[in-house]
Amino acid sequence: MSGPLIAPSLLSSDFGAFAEAARACQQAGAEFLHFDVMDGAFVPNITFGPGVVKALRPHSRACFDVHLMIERPERWIETFAEAGADIITVHAEACIHLQRVLAQIRAAGARAGLSLNPATPLDILDYVLDDLDLLLIMTVNPGFGGQSFIPAMLPKIAAARDRLSAAAHSVFLEVDGGIGGATAREVVRAGANVLVAGSSVFGHPGGLAAGVRALRVAAESD
Ligand code: DX5
Ligand code: ZN
Repeated sequence: MSGPLIAPSLLSSDFGAFAEAARACQQAGAEFLHFDVMDGAFVPNITFGPGVVKALRPHSRACFDVHLMIERPERWIETFAEAGADIITVHAEACIHLQRVLAQIRAAGARAGLSLNPATPLDILDYVLDDLDLLLIMTVNPGFGGQSFIPAMLPKIAAARDRLSAAAHSVFLEVDGGIGGATAREVVRAGANVLVAGSSVFGHPGGLAAGVRALRVAAESD
């Protein structure tokens, strides 16, 4: 059985050396590169925009996984797609016309992701399942790296896995926040197959490659 895909989050890397981090993630074998885009309104923090995605595109062949923590993300879909995003994920809480935004992402040539905050129920999924390529279950409240995994998200991940199995096509089930050696195995057992990790990989005492490796070992342990 193949293990989960690993998505290091640039949020925990040195903001003065993104290109180096992007190259190191690819070298470490991470399949995805996760971009946390924050606008200071949807979340209480500001990071970076499409310029960083575009600047890093020549430095990595990984799947560029762009997590938009911004209000009214429909204003920015085409710009991120043109910048080189492979997957664009929007928050249900930030979209008034969610189905339209998901369709807009696919029309722009990217894969469509939907993210749910910890307290947002799964019910909405039933109405947009056909429009989704990735479901992101937030396992912390978005805004900052280095927060603790919320254990109540484990049954939510399992319930999401059940609902996704009703889809006619395959949908990635990604988790984000507090994922490391202690939690990777549990989320994978619950059904996650893409693991976002910031502090546990970039902050690993043995370096990034050791962090990615440790996450895979933890995720695949019995
Ligand atoms: C949180 C971001 C995460 C964050 C995860 O708002 O969406 O991607 O970087 O960081 P860790 O892995 O440190 O919890
Ligand atoms: Zn994220």
